[in-house]
Amino acid sequence: MTEEQQAGLARFLDTAYGFLTTGYKEPARYNFDVCNVSPAAEVVPGPELGGSPQPCAGVGGRGDDAAVCRKMSGNSAPLMEESSVGNGTPLPAESAVENTMAELEEVAACVRECTLCGLCATRIKAVPGEGAQRPLALVVGEGPGADEDSSGRPFVGAAGRLLDQMLLSIGLDRNRNCFIANVIKCRPPGNRDPLPEETAACLPFFERQLAALRPPVILTVGKVPVKTLLGTDEGITRLRGNWKSYRGIPLLPTFHPSYLLRDESQKKFAWEDLKALCRRLAGIDPGYAAETAELRRARGI
Ligand code: URA
Repeated sequence: MTEEQQAGLARFLDTAYGFLTTGYKEPARYNFDVCNVSPAAEVVPGPELGGSPQPCAGVGGRGDDAAVCRKMSGNSAPLMEESSVGNGTPLPAESAVENTMAELEEVAACVRECTLCGLCATRIKAVPGEGAQRPLALVVGEGPGADEDSSGRPFVGAAGRLLDQMLLSIGLDRNRNCFIANVIKCRPPGNRDPLPEETAACLPFFERQLAALRPPVILTVGKVPVKTLLGTDEGITRLRGNWKSYRGIPLLPTFHPSYLLRDESQKKFAWEDLKALCRRLAGIDPGYAAETAELRRARGI
């Protein structure tokens, strides 16, 4: 039996089991609200994600790791000199980054070794980010929580499961076509908001990832990333759903999944934002448009 046939059989048995045990359920999922938080697809980072723990020396052929890390986190790399907190400097027309995978691995290795702010003293694991090398969307969160701190992967706790569900509802998946990162790569103790000096120390890593990934669209979740990237103090309730731009890339702020877990009544607004993102991506990428045509029709997007 081929893998495809096996998957089809598994789906059939799953549906039949659900039917026998809980009765018929409408199979179409019109938005992530009806999906609820229940079993998100297991998300396993691909090799390009630095998902399996890699010792720094294992990131091939980088020579003097410490020197590379100094370069990447300091002000010496050209893209970092351009970077500033704010909305001004666009990415260069031609990417200086020729090999995205190597670049992402280098950033990840440097993040794991980083001691540029006090968070290195309290972290268990740094969380560089993970996802597709050529993402349709770069999803940007605040910073790691306890689950992420212990696993070294972004958005793996309850909020992460909801985030995966939200993304899947519009055909996005960190294993295939989006990348998930945080503006802060190490957990602030007690999940407090990061301090300005912590954000300033960490932002060059994000900038480097952005320059390597060159996503057509950025989705920020929660107030910290939008405040960090756009330099605004406006509340997320006002900002969400309004397209902005960061370094020339369209950026859509929406609510953080943790907030949605605390207040489910806000999910309908997040769903509006996801629909807007889906429409925008369908206008940008013909492959995504074709792939999500049925989903968009069924979900009224
Ligand atoms: N919340 C975030 O903002 N980022 C994570 O990685 C996990 C929870």
